Amino acid sequence: THSSSARGIFIKGGRVVNEDCSAIADVYIENGKIVEVGMGLQIPAGTRVIDATDKLVMPGGIDTHTHMELAFMGTKAVDDFHIGTKAALAGGTTMILDFVIPQKGKSLLEAYNCWRETADPKVCCDYSLHVAVTWWSDKVKKEMEILTKEKGVNSFKMFMAYKDVFMLSDSELYAAFSQCKQIGAIAQVHAENGDLIAEGAKKMLALGITGPEGHELCRPEEVEAEATQRAITIAHAVNCPLYVVHVMSKSAAKVVSNARRDGRVVFGEPIAAGLGTDGTHYWDKEWAHAAGFVMGPPLRPDPSTPGYLMDLLANDDLSVTGTDNCTFCVCQKALGKDDFTKIPNGVNGVEDRMSVIWEKGVHSGKMDENRFVAVTSSNAAKIFNFYPQKGRIAKNSDADVVIWDPKLTRKISAKTHHQAVDYNIFEGMVCHGVPVITISRGKVVYEAGELKVSPGHGKFIHRKPFSEFVYKRIKQREQVSQAPYASTPESSIPAFKQCASW
Ligand code: URP
Ligand code: ZN
Ligand code: ZN
Ligand code: ZN
Repeated sequence: THSSSARGIFIKGGRVVNEDCSAIADVYIENGKIVEVGMGLQIPAGTRVIDATDKLVMPGGIDTHTHMELAFMGTKAVDDFHIGTKAALAGGTTMILDFVIPQKGKSLLEAYNCWRETADPKVCCDYSLHVAVTWWSDKVKKEMEILTKEKGVNSFKMFMAYKDVFMLSDSELYAAFSQCKQIGAIAQVHAENGDLIAEGAKKMLALGITGPEGHELCRPEEVEAEATQRAITIAHAVNCPLYVVHVMSKSAAKVVSNARRDGRVVFGEPIAAGLGTDGTHYWDKEWAHAAGFVMGPPLRPDPSTPGYLMDLLANDDLSVTGTDNCTFCVCQKALGKDDFTKIPNGVNGVEDRMSVIWEKGVHSGKMDENRFVAVTSSNAAKIFNFYPQKGRIAKNSDADVVIWDPKLTRKISAKTHHQAVDYNIFEGMVCHGVPVITISRGKVVYEAGELKVSPGHGKFIHRKPFSEFVYKRIKQREQVSQAPYASTPESSIPAFKQCASW
């Protein structure tokens, strides 16, 4: 009952890895979906057979955080939706979540439509969109509702940094988080104190510190940790689930971890850059090298940071991984040659995230292959509400699959990567764990080092609000905390305290 052109794919004898278990099994794919998973399946006629003996068959990676072709800090990111998603596929990632970032005062819906028009014809893998709330008004509030009800968006990013550009005040964060909770969305924060960054930057420049090291010195760890704690406090006040994007420091990671131990519904997202390298590069004598690592929040000079973040990722204090892929060539970085505040912020990662996490996480023995799947795809699918459509190798799931050779190694280099950017922050890193075949929407799109995919192959993935993984607890807390609160105030006080949800 399928057209003759829709040839199936039979992945034979691999080790199928999901977030909860692994088993040797065959996987049969047809019409973009996984049709069957099991031992010794029959091979239908006309099917392409891929021998996956001694290889892992895993859900394709989901990068929770990219900024393809973002216009930012006076220039535009060079990885566009075409090149960026192709690079993703070459690295075993089959879906990205990018950000719509409207200017202050501008319509969220118009910005969303514009980003869809830009991305839809170019993407080579599936994608979805978070939307940033960069200002506040009744119109913004209404548009958030429309985006969740009609446009497939269930996550909104609020900036606590980039003063006068994207930053919101605490009262605006309160309003935005309240609305997220009302409409069943996840509040995301860029957690850094924007006022302190502005003051710190002035101070550094006054001291004559104009190089990339000034970028880190003007916004040390506690600037990130303070904002992280403040966001958690505000989210808790309105019983809203919180997702902290790009957790870059030990201090901020500890804040997230402690909040989770206090029972808060909060998720932390480290990124490939923070797990794979550190901020010592800001002190490199070669300006271009140092500037290449500039991003916000900065990578940290404490060299124990990447290993620490990986430990927390391994034990579920941190939940998912993105990349914040937002790439600027060396010539673009040079906008800040004489003033670090003008260096366009952003680094690469979309192509190398899977290999970096395999190397630093799995090869090192910190996490097993199942946790690898959890932090590279399935947790993202659960939080952002498209599980098990993606993030799982199972019957009826989308055929987004990576065939992984854990024994092969590759050396990361700008000379061989597929991204448009002219350097790579992981240059020279040797990684065990190589994606040998990537399948997107049931088609082999990357094989033997070759990409075979055209722009528009990927599709926009609509996400519904009230993700159960996030909202079941939120809803229950709402109920148990409201019942006593609504009755006699005196008798409600102990119960109210016990519930402790606000
Ligand atoms: O440096 C960064 N992170 N650039 C992209 C914008 C953001 O804050 O995520
Ligand atoms: Zn950010
Ligand atoms: Zn360096
Ligand atoms: Zn970002």
